[in-house]
Amino acid sequence: MNPENFSLSERIVSQSYVRQGSQARRGHEQLIRQLLEQGKCPEKGWSESTVELFLNELALMDSNNFLGNCGVGEREGRVASGLVARRHYRLIHGIGRSGDIAAVQPKAAGSSLLNKLTNSVVLDVLRLSGVRSAASCFVVPMATGMSLSLCFLTLRHRRPRARYIVWPRIDQKSCFKAMVTAGYEPVVVENVLEGDELRTDVAAVERQIQALGAESVLCVHSTTSCFAPRVPDRIEELATLCAKYDIPHIVNNAYGVQSSKCMHLIQQGARVGRVDAFVQSLDKNFMVPVGGAIIAGFDEAFIQEISQMYPGRASASPSLDVLITLLGLGAGGYKRLLAERKEMYSFLSQELGSLAVAHGERVLHTPHNPISLAMSLDGLRGDGDNKAVTQLGSMLFTRQVSGARVIPLGKEQTLGGHTFRGFMSHSEAYPVPYLNAAAAVGVTRDDVVLCVKRLDRSLVNGTFSEIKEAMFSHMQSLQLLLLNSNSLTTIRDDAFSGLPHLEYLFIESNQLETASKYSFRGLRDLTHLSLANNKIKALPRDLFIDLDSLIELDLRGNAFECDCRAKWLMSWLKSTNATVSDVLCAGPEAMKGKRLNDMTSLHNECTSTDFTLHQSVASESLSVDTFTYKNDVYVAIAAPNTESCMVMQWDHIEMNFRTYDNITGQSIVGCKAVVIQSLVFVIVAQLFGGSHIYQFDDDQSRFNKFQDIEVSKISKPNDIETFQIAGDWFFVIADSSKAGLSTLYKWNDKGFYSHQSLHEWFRDTDAEFLDVDGKAHLILASRSQVPVIYQWSRSSQKFVQQGDIPNMEDVVAVKHFRVKEELYLAMTRYIGDSKLLHWGAKQFVEIQALPSRGSMVLQPFSFKERHYLALGSDYTFSQIYLWDAQEKQFERFKEVYIQAPRSFTLVSTGRRDFIFSSSFKGNTQIFEHIIIDLSL
Ligand SMILES: Cc1ncc(COP(=O)(O)O)c(C=O)c1O
Repeated sequence: MNPENFSLSERIVSQSYVRQGSQARRGHEQLIRQLLEQGKCPEKGWSESTVELFLNELALMDSNNFLGNCGVGEREGRVASGLVARRHYRLIHGIGRSGDIAAVQPKAAGSSLLNKLTNSVVLDVLRLSGVRSAASCFVVPMATGMSLSLCFLTLRHRRPRARYIVWPRIDQKSCFKAMVTAGYEPVVVENVLEGDELRTDVAAVERQIQALGAESVLCVHSTTSCFAPRVPDRIEELATLCAKYDIPHIVNNAYGVQSSKCMHLIQQGARVGRVDAFVQSLDKNFMVPVGGAIIAGFDEAFIQEISQMYPGRASASPSLDVLITLLGLGAGGYKRLLAERKEMYSFLSQELGSLAVAHGERVLHTPHNPISLAMSLDGLRGDGDNKAVTQLGSMLFTRQVSGARVIPLGKEQTLGGHTFRGFMSHSEAYPVPYLNAAAAVGVTRDDVVLCVKRLDRSLVNGTFSEIKEAMFSHMQSLQLLLLNSNSLTTIRDDAFSGLPHLEYLFIESNQLETASKYSFRGLRDLTHLSLANNKIKALPRDLFIDLDSLIELDLRGNAFECDCRAKWLMSWLKSTNATVSDVLCAGPEAMKGKRLNDMTSLHNECTSTDFTLHQSVASESLSVDTFTYKNDVYVAIAAPNTESCMVMQWDHIEMNFRTYDNITGQSIVGCKAVVIQSLVFVIVAQLFGGSHIYQFDDDQSRFNKFQDIEVSKISKPNDIETFQIAGDWFFVIADSSKAGLSTLYKWNDKGFYSHQSLHEWFRDTDAEFLDVDGKAHLILASRSQVPVIYQWSRSSQKFVQQGDIPNMEDVVAVKHFRVKEELYLAMTRYIGDSKLLHWGAKQFVEIQALPSRGSMVLQPFSFKERHYLALGSDYTFSQIYLWDAQEKQFERFKEVYIQAPRSFTLVSTGRRDFIFSSSFKGNTQIFEHIIIDLSL
């Protein structure tokens, strides 16, 4: 309100009150007056109400806010949205006139005033920040890069023959593009490494100027503010060079206003040599939104020339923002901010220093860089790849640590035709990867503390040879754990327990040969795991089973043995959703250099077998036979010392064989079961008192005598063999007395009746029924003669002797077996070698001899594809042999001890397989056939 309005107000409200009000207003106006008079940043910051009063006053001076104004031009400062109008304090006309950004607009006295005042206040601030002799500046509504381009374009008129801009390298794309956009070819001058610092190679700059010829050089384009370990350019020397060769010098002072050191460099440069213009960003130095820069210089005419170069008008926003900010802060406030920043730089440097020491790293020594710091990441270096470094970067980003950049080694980038090796590091071959953090204006103590804390959590790098259980559990919030390049040899079970948030685990370049089975238990959040470059040959099965969140697994650089031990890993590679690196095989020979990832099978089946004692039955025995009835598995054991035929049943619950019934008798030598339709019989052969057949009675759950066998010709039964020919059931009793006759009995629906007498007077030891080339045969082995072969005659329904097996005296047992359809015989001999024969070309041919002194039994049996031979011995260990399919021979497999073994009988419960070995002098032993998985 003006004085007139105040006096009118006095009629309404008390005079003294109004006077007080008008005095208060005068206070505001006085501040405005000072600003208009001096054009300087007020020492003390204005209140927001003074700022708003001032802006409103300015706005009222623009035609768009005139009362009763009628606009008929094409630009009348019309704004559709009230919100937008208010956002700009109704200063809508922008700044400049076509052709000059600094020119006054007749329609917008307020905006023009704002523009002039802003430039003036900003110049004042530049001066008080250190460039005392700055002569002129203006705010451009473009960020640093474009503002630099504008400077270069302005120089074009002055240096029409210039094509190059000589530029000490700084890996900041906008700086590079600023030159290319202006149509110039950047001549990149590499920095020199001095200690940790990357510094301007002034001599190289001069060489370039000389080589190109000063006239072809548009300017030298130097930089002050930059990321450590690069430090501000040697502005003084460059300025001197520029003066010497009469070449313009443009300084990129992007965020250098906040540092007295950077500003001092520019001031000194201008004093001793040539600085034509220096450009700084508004946002980075004055905490305003991105969008503006200040172009400043020491020659007012040149700065004006640049402002005239700008085509058309421009947004007033950046000017408005910086003016509001500077008026609000006041020179004192801004200087305070700068002092705080400096303090924070020391604090950050100190905190980063302690962090570095704790992690075996160091803060790079870059005393010439006043804003940015760098900490080495040597421990993340790995073997030439930067994965860990980059992972740390992305992790920090997701942990909301913004601005802390990680700089890997050896990154290459091509910009505008120029290839930068070691891009981001300002150097072709900086020796270490590192991490940057900056103490820029506005940074708070909390920012530093939090950043260092999060970094600490992300960076654990120790020197251990062993990771013990729960070794890091005191660091519960750990998200990244780096254990690279240690001398780790062992990871114990639960090594990482207590780290529920761990996402990245790197254990590269250590000495690990394997890991404990539960090494990674509990790491449910782990997304990245690297065990690259260790000495891993094999890993325990299901090592990664707990890693539900795994995205990437690196197993490169190890020496995997792609044998059975790798089998589980091979299958896991097929099923996991994680991306897994190549798993290269170092062995066995045939696998060398191949990728486990591509394999679908390994050369061997990766299982072995064993026989372990399952149960011992406290009874001697001569024979064991097995049968199945109503899904239950039974065995019948001829137990002479208890004068019985012990019937045992497999107990599915207790998982052992238990006594079911006892068929008592006298001098029992053989118990043979036969199941005919639903009838279960046990043929009991006795030395005395005749032989009998017992039948199972379902109701009583026991065996009852069913029939006496006609034994007039049997005197010393030695073996019973049951079989079927063309649907008819038979059994043979081999008689081993001189006076006896081996006899064939046939089932006739009522009982077994003798059918044929066989082989008189030869002391038969064993009868074996077998199919040879589709025909039923019977082989009888005898004490006094080579084995004889009978063939079944269909016409006479009798066995007819067909021949014998020559040179095979004194055979105590004969058993047949097949391997892949091929027929073999196992001949047991008590004296001399036992023999294996193969049926081929119409005769049995010996293929292997097994030393067998004192053997009463050589029993073949098979479990799935594995064929065994058990060779009993009365004097020493019994041997189990295993069929070698390649050699077509049996190889020794295992020794078992049984006293005087008389038979080996395979009993299978469906799920489990057993071998019953009868013993004439000790307990009947039950061995279980077990399969051992060799893949870890
Ligand atoms: C040294 C340097 N030059 C130029 C720029 C680009 O600035 P602007 O985004 O304002 O163009 C930056 C950005 O941080 C910088 O650090």
